[in-house]
Amino acid sequence: MLIRPSSVNESDTTLEVRGLPSHIGIIMDGNGRWAQLRGLDRSVGHREGSAAVRRIVRATRRLGIKALTVYAFSEQNWERPELEVSALMRLLEDYLLSEREELLDTGIRLQAIGNLGRLPRFVRAVLDPLRSDTARNDEMTLTLALSYGGREEIATAAQDLARDVLSGRIRADEITPDALRVRMPSLAVGDPDLVIRTGGEQRISNFLLYGLAYAELVFSDKLWPDFSAHDLYTAIAAYQRRERRYGKVGRTATFAPPPNDAPSS
Ligand code: IPE
Ligand code: IPE
Ligand code: MG
Repeated sequence: MLIRPSSVNESDTTLEVRGLPSHIGIIMDGNGRWAQLRGLDRSVGHREGSAAVRRIVRATRRLGIKALTVYAFSEQNWERPELEVSALMRLLEDYLLSEREELLDTGIRLQAIGNLGRLPRFVRAVLDPLRSDTARNDEMTLTLALSYGGREEIATAAQDLARDVLSGRIRADEITPDALRVRMPSLAVGDPDLVIRTGGEQRISNFLLYGLAYAELVFSDKLWPDFSAHDLYTAIAAYQRRERRYGKVGRTATFAPPPNDAPSS
């Protein structure tokens, strides 16, 4: 049995083990700007971005966090120039080939969500075996969002439900929030507790829309290739200082006694 301390001190940031998020989502933004600031091709920024993924996956697993979902390529990113898209697909292939051994050795299960049918055949040729070969790993689930869009995921779940209603498997009034949730691959590991976006923009850009309902959001000005394990710990520490209320009243809520002149019932 693995006994974990009640707090871990990770490069000057103390994290409480008890309040760690179970599922972290990351919108990895800023690769292009990172390269452009150095007068380099945007693809160099994407390559550095892959190294950052490796770093952050390791750090997340070391903390004992069970699920990490990283937004690597959106459904809308297909609209980028063809050269950039093909560089990204080659980098994805390289990443999957280079991480294979470490994912297997460290017990990480690799999943992919999104419109995977749009990915080039050479990506599927490395992605699919890695998904099945790591399927039994249970230390952490790493989900790559590839050709992913939150609206598209909701629409697909709605189509599924419509088919179930038409075939008589369920009634229309059985379409509940949970009926939608179980049809969303992004939430198979649970709702995200913490979503981090790097790169300075404060928007969601079509990531995990349905699951975000009560996620805590942390925005970092760091460009993704510069995002370090220390930045991850800082984001988690910020999450741990928040109070998640889910619409209820907070721990420190006070209730004033009713005024004396309140009408008696
Ligand atoms: C994020 O970095 C990676 C992808 C969207 C594929 P960007 O490529 O969006 O970098 P910026 O935002 O242009 O700097
Ligand atoms: C979001 O970043 C998508 C990924 C990180 C994969 P974008 O760079 O595509 O988002 P926008 O265009 O700034 O909203
Ligand atoms: Mg961007």
